[in-house]
This record gives sequence, C-alpha cells and structure tokens, in this order.
Amino acid sequence: MLLYSPLLLLIAFRGIYATCGIDRRHVVRSFNPRRNASSETTPLQVGNGNFAFGVDVTGLQTFSPFATMSTWGWHNFSLPTTNGQTSVDDFTGLDWWTHGRLVNYNQPNPAESEISNWLIQNPQRVNLATIGFSFGDDDMTEEKLEDKSQTLDLWTGQISSAFAYNGAPVKVETWADSSSDTIGIAIKSELLSADSLGIFFDFPLPTRNKFDAPFVGVFNATDQHITSLEAGENSATIRHDIDATSYYVTVAWDANAEISGPFDGTHRYMLKPLQGVKKIKLSVTFSPAPSTDAPSFAEISTASTSWWESFWRSGAFIDLTGANSPNATELQRRTILSQYLTAVNSASSYPPQESGLVNNGWYGKFHLEMILWHLLHFARWNQFALLRRSVPNMYGTYLESSIERANLQGYDGARWGKMTDPTGRSAPGEINSLLIWQQPHPFYFAEIEYRSFPNESTLKSWDEILTATADFMVSYAFFNQSTKHYDLGSPMYPASENTNPNSTINPAFELAYWRFGLDVAIKWKERQKLPAPKKWTEVRDNLAPLPIVEDAFAVYEGIPNMWENTTVQDHPAISAVFGLLPPPYSGPPLNMTVARNTADKIRDVWDLKDCWGWDFPMLAMNSLRLGDIDQAVAYLLHPLFEFDDAGYPVGGSRVPTPYFPGSSSFLLAMAMMAGGWDGEPGLHFPQDWDVQVKGFVPGL
Ligand SMILES: *[C@@H]1O[C@H](CO)[C@@H](O)[C@H](O)[C@H]1NC(C)=O
Ligand SMILES: *[C@@H]1O[C@H](CO)[C@@H](O)[C@H](O)[C@H]1NC(C)=O
Ligand SMILES: *[C@@H]1O[C@H](CO)[C@@H](O)[C@H](O)[C@H]1NC(C)=O
Ligand SMILES: *[C@@H]1O[C@H](CO)[C@@H](O)[C@H](O)[C@H]1NC(C)=O
Ligand SMILES: *[C@@H]1O[C@H](CO)[C@@H](O)[C@H](O)[C@H]1NC(C)=O
Ligand SMILES: *[C@@H]1O[C@H](CO)[C@@H](O)[C@H](O)[C@H]1NC(C)=O
Ligand SMILES: *[C@@H]1O[C@H](CO)[C@@H](O)[C@H](O)[C@H]1NC(C)=O
Ligand SMILES: *[C@@H]1O[C@H](CO)[C@@H](O)[C@H](O)[C@H]1NC(C)=O
Ligand SMILES: *[C@@H]1O[C@H](CO)[C@@H](O)[C@H](O)[C@H]1NC(C)=O
Repeated sequence: MLLYSPLLLLIAFRGIYATCGIDRRHVVRSFNPRRNASSETTPLQVGNGNFAFGVDVTGLQTFSPFATMSTWGWHNFSLPTTNGQTSVDDFTGLDWWTHGRLVNYNQPNPAESEISNWLIQNPQRVNLATIGFSFGDDDMTEEKLEDKSQTLDLWTGQISSAFAYNGAPVKVETWADSSSDTIGIAIKSELLSADSLGIFFDFPLPTRNKFDAPFVGVFNATDQHITSLEAGENSATIRHDIDATSYYVTVAWDANAEISGPFDGTHRYMLKPLQGVKKIKLSVTFSPAPSTDAPSFAEISTASTSWWESFWRSGAFIDLTGANSPNATELQRRTILSQYLTAVNSASSYPPQESGLVNNGWYGKFHLEMILWHLLHFARWNQFALLRRSVPNMYGTYLESSIERANLQGYDGARWGKMTDPTGRSAPGEINSLLIWQQPHPFYFAEIEYRSFPNESTLKSWDEILTATADFMVSYAFFNQSTKHYDLGSPMYPASENTNPNSTINPAFELAYWRFGLDVAIKWKERQKLPAPKKWTEVRDNLAPLPIVEDAFAVYEGIPNMWENTTVQDHPAISAVFGLLPPPYSGPPLNMTVARNTADKIRDVWDLKDCWGWDFPMLAMNSLRLGDIDQAVAYLLHPLFEFDDAGYPVGGSRVPTPYFPGSSSFLLAMAMMAGGWDGEPGLHFPQDWDVQVKGFVPGL
C-alpha cells in the first residue's frame, strides 16, 4: 500500500500547476490581429528579427507597398563631387570649448555641408522589393475586392488572407523563415487558372528622406537603378543594383508558371501561372550573394511554426485573463502583441531602428542611447538568445572605433557613438555628439545578464567592454577645483535633448547613471578578483550631488525655471533616476522625499503632450517603485500612449508610427509588475486582479 503525505501531494500538484497553469496558446491566440482592410500606417508582418515582410490586406504588398527589410540591406548614394569634399575623410567636424580646451566633435561643419549631409543621409536601409497581386486591371483598387478578411496567427507566425475578386475567392498564406531572409507564399484561386491573377515583383530606389514612412523608397526613378532577370525552370533570380549595392531575389514555385519583365520603364516583373493552375506555392529569398539553398515553402512554414511555438513556450509569461478587467485585457493585448513585434523587428544582429523593419526613421539607422529601451526586455523576459544576437557582440564590434573617438577627443577608454549604421560610424550632429546617457548602458546589460548567468563566461564576455566604458566615464568626468566634485559637462545634452549644451552641467539622471555604472564596473572587477583602478572609485565617490530644485530633482544643475511650464517638456528622464535605476549601491542614499516629490510634480505639471514612447513606461516604472500601482497602470494606459489594432506603438507628433521603444519599454514595465525588483520581488499588479506569471526574476 502506498502512503502519500499531504506535503508530497502539494508539491506534486504545484509541479503540475507550474507547467500547466497557464494556457499560453490560448492567451496568445486571443490577441491574433484581424483585419478586413489595409491600415494606412502599419502592415501585418512576418519576420524573424533580422528580416521582415510587411503586408496589406491581400497578404502581399498589392495596394500598400509596405517594406521588405533586413539587417544587411543598405545603400550609399554617391559621394559629393564639389568643394573638395569628395571623401569621408574630408569631414573634420567642429571644435568646441570643453573645460578650457578645444575638443573635436562630430558635428556638421557649415564649411563642409556637402560631406556632412552625406554622412548623415548615408547609408540608408533598403526596402528590398515589393511583391503583390496583379489583377490585370490598371485601375484596380482595394475597394474592388470583396469579403476581405485577414488573421495573423501569433502562435505560428502565419498570416492568412482571403478576399474575392469578381466573385471568385482568393486564399493566401504568408510566412517567414525563422533563420533566413525568406518568405513562403501559398495562393489558391480559380483566378490563377483563368489567367487573371499574377504576382508582381517591383524594386524601389532608396531616398534621402530622414523619415521614409509609411513606405520606403520610390518607384518612379527607374533610370537610377538596374534590375535583371535570370529565369530557370520553376525558379528565377532577379538581381538589383543600386550604385554599389547589389542583392538577389530568388523565387521558386511549384506549379506551371512563367516569369517575365522588366516591363517598359519599370523594374516590375510578373509571375503568371498558366492554364489549369489553381494553386501555387512560392519561396522568395533575399540575399546579398546569389542564393543556392533557399528553403521550400513547406520548410518555411514548419520552421516558423516551431520557432514561434518555442518562443512563446520558453520565455517568461504573464496571464492577465483571469483579472476580469478591461484594463487588464488591454495590458495583456499590448503585452502579447509587443512580444511578437519586438521579436520580428528588434531581435537583430545589429541594434534595431526605432521603426524596426516596418519603415525608415533616421534613414534606417539605429541609436545607441535607445538600445537599452529596445533590448533589455529580452533579458527580463528570459529571451536571452534574442538579446545575444546583438549584445554584447555589437559593443565588441564598435570597440575599436569608440576607442578612437575617445582618443581623438583626449579621453581614455571607449566613447560609444550615437546614430549608427553597421560600420559603427556615428552620424554627425550637435545632439548626436554631445549626448552621454548611452555610455553606461553596457553596465545595465551586463549586470542583468550576470543575475541569470553568474558565471565566468558572462564575466569574460563583458570585461573588456566594461573596462573601456568605465575608463571613458571617469576620464570624461571633470574635476572641479572649487567644489572638489567631478562634474559631467558642459558641453553636453541630457536625455531630453532640449537644453543649451554649453550651460548643461551635472544632469540628475546622467549623474545617477554614472554612479550606477561605476558601481557595477568596480563590482565586476571584484567578482573576477581583479583590482579596480583607483581612479574609478575616486570619481564615483566624488561625483557632484544630484541637483534639486523645489525639493525635487532638476534636469541639470542651475537650470533656470526648472518647475515652470516652459521647462517641463520632453523626456522626463529625472523619473529614471529611480524608475530605471536601483537605489545607489554606493554614496549617500537616495532622498526618498525628493524621489516622491519628483514623481508627484511630474504627474501634476509635466507637459505629457510633449512626451512619447518610452516616457510612459519609464514613468510607470517610477510609480511602481514608489508603490503607486494605480498610477503605473494609468501611465501604461495613458491616452497619449497608443497601440494600434495590430499592436504597433503609435508615434505621435514628433516621431512617425511605429515607434518601437514604446513596445520594448512597455514590456520592461510589465516585467517589473510581474517580477518585482531587488528588495520587492514578486507581483505588483492591482490588488483585485487574479494574475499568473511564470519565469521572471526580480529586476535591479
Ligand atoms: C471590418 O472590421 C471592423 C473593425 O474590426 C468592423 O467594425 C467591421 O464591421 C468589419 N467589416 C466587415 C465588412 O466585416
Ligand atoms: C557606405 O560608405 C561608407 C563610407 O565609404 C562605407 O564605410 C560603407 O561601407 C558604405 N556602405 C554601403 C552599404 O555601401
Ligand atoms: C556652444 O559653444 C560653442 C563654442 O565652444 C559654440 O560654437 C556654440 O555655438 C555654442 N552653442 C550654444 C547653443 O550656445
Ligand atoms: C515620384 O513620386 C513622388 C511622390 O511619390 C514625387 O514627389 C516625385 O516628384 C516623383 N518623381 C518623378 C521623377 O516623377
Ligand atoms: C554561463 O553563462 C552563459 C551566458 O553568459 C551561458 O550561455 C552558459 O550556459 C553558462 N554556463 C554555465 C556553465 O552555467
Ligand atoms: C565648478 O562648479 C561650480 C558649481 O557647480 C560651477 O559654477 C563652475 O563653473 C565649475 N567650474 C568649472 C571650471 O567648471
Ligand atoms: C531630503 O530632502 C528633503 C526635501 O528637500 C529635505 O528636507 C531633507 O532634509 C532631505 N533629507 C536628507 C536626509 O538629506
Ligand atoms: C505658462 O503659464 C503661464 C501662466 O499660467 C501662461 O501664461 C503661459 O501661456 C504658459 N506657457 C506655456 C508654454 O504653457
Ligand atoms: C482603468 O484604468 C484607468 C486609467 O488608469 C482608470 O482611470 C480606471 O479607473 C481603470 N478602470 C478600472 C475598472 O479599474
């Protein structure tokens, strides 16, 4: 006879509960986006972090040329040819007075405007191709289609689209491969056989537009680029040459069909199924070199299904479906859709751009001060493999040029750039060259990774990067003889980018972040039983105190009219002193009266109309740490912090849609609600919500 102790039963029950308690598939699928018309601003996307294909309501890019973008597809327009500015080496930037010496900054020099502009606008990210249906009607519009319906199945990564034309139904499946830049398309329709439905391929020319949204590139400058077709049996390769950029689009199909083109004055090609064909499957691969091993449609759909299932099953998870509150449902919707969209658009081998792979903002480049908001949530949601696609390798790749940047300016260590492309070059700009809050980011990433992987290989993988970062940070801090403090700036821009750089000194958030960074730097050496340079401790222990005005944090020391309505605009980064950063590990403790006053004053007087994206989650995180859960929910659901029907974060007045730092910072705030933080682990949701979470560890 077997005897079961109640304790064992309880353990057994809990074990089952822990693995079966949340029906992840059900929760995820409840939020599958469904459309019956194309959106004017956002596609539905299939993709894998390094590649994405955005579609309209037809499942292709028929009426709305949403983008096909990658991490490798970039283009340079030709260099300027006049005023002696014919090479990137002709750019010299500007010298600004910095603590009594002239320092060279990577800023547009009016005497070198041609090469300055060239360096800002190049390279741009390329929209690789447009693929759509051709109905043989020159005046075709989306309105002429009937019975349109479309679903993105988040659980498998499949988009299913259906519509009818002249009464005949068309069914489309769209997939992306999980590990190559390939899409799979399956089409079923009598129209194929009736010779009235074809599939076109078209190729846009990049533009010099800072923001190319909602669509990337133009189709009417056909004489400035070249395409050519090499057709085989059931396959074809189209090569696209734009100046020095070349790449290949390899199409393979499984039914009787012919490809032709380009048609006069265009870069348009047409794949036409022949008589008798009622269904066709295509695989389309995009590659910088001719592709020889493109996966088949079946391989793509299998790979996508298993990748997404494993994504949803392996990471951390939040289930708010038991909460029975519309607010909880909306937070759940944003959570699931943000998880999907950041995996598609941000999990790349270079940092993501603000608009991911949807369209181009800032020419498709990425911003190194934004990467903490973009990527940290992958760690907090236990998706380290996605984080590690770019971090820390990206820092390793840019280390040498960042050491050069610091060296040229007379500093030690590595000064990380700002608006960047795969070469690691930072685009010229006054703000770009004077922003400093990207510098401590490696410490945050490293410390969070160490929390989950406290071993030698984590310590080793970050050590060189952290050492070079700390060396820059201490040499950048300026010893002020009269105060005996180390000052940050001037000249500099704080995170809010809206102050006079020549009078900006000792910004509260950056000072707090410097302390945090140096604390981690020193700890990192201790963990390796290595000595930390004395200078690191010396600077950390003598940093200027955080500036305070009216018993709340000030943007910077000496800022005029701090709490007046003309100042309380742009990113409220003073809320990140406590919202993003843990209480200081060294030095005087944070004055909690001041931290609380800061949150209250921001809530009461800050101009939130002038805020966007990560501001709202950052404010929510600050509210959470201060124990005000309702205020955190209110920030996360603020009417100015919108997500559209498919979960794309709406840009607002200052940035186009989508603005993905909104999604990723939202996920960071949700991780804080689900996992808590040091000293306050566990759930931080409204008390009457029934919530289940899995896989979170406390944040810093
Ligand atoms: C299309 O979708 C919208 C919003 O989801 C819905 O209100 C509308 O009834 C749908 N139209 C049709 C014809 O299904
Ligand atoms: C663009 O030009 C820069 C400067 O010559 C070069 O470093 C970079 O590799 C080029 N990128 C592309 C995509 O051609
Ligand atoms: C800041 O100082 C530099 C010289 O060091 C000057 O060129 C620049 O115009 C000044 N900027 C402002 C906004 O005062
Ligand atoms: C191409 O189209 C754009 C708008 O899409 C227009 O502004 C531009 O003038 C056109 N260029 C040519 C050469 O037709
Ligand atoms: C150490 O951490 C790394 C990540 O930094 C992880 O990939 C590896 O599995 C860990 N090794 C051990 C032995 O735990
Ligand atoms: C030293 O600090 C004081 C007070 O912050 C400031 O007014 C002064 O400009 C600083 N000195 C230098 C040389 O930066
Ligand atoms: C904290 O700040 C408040 C408000 O400025 C101040 O009154 C108090 O003395 C400070 N406390 C400490 C310990 O500095
Ligand atoms: C700031 O407040 C003053 C007094 O209430 C008002 O006259 C002014 O228009 C406000 N300015 C802004 C930028 O809101
Ligand atoms: C939902 O959130 C909003 C914004 O925070 C709040 O005003 C409202 O009371 C909440 N609704 C419920 C039912 O809790």
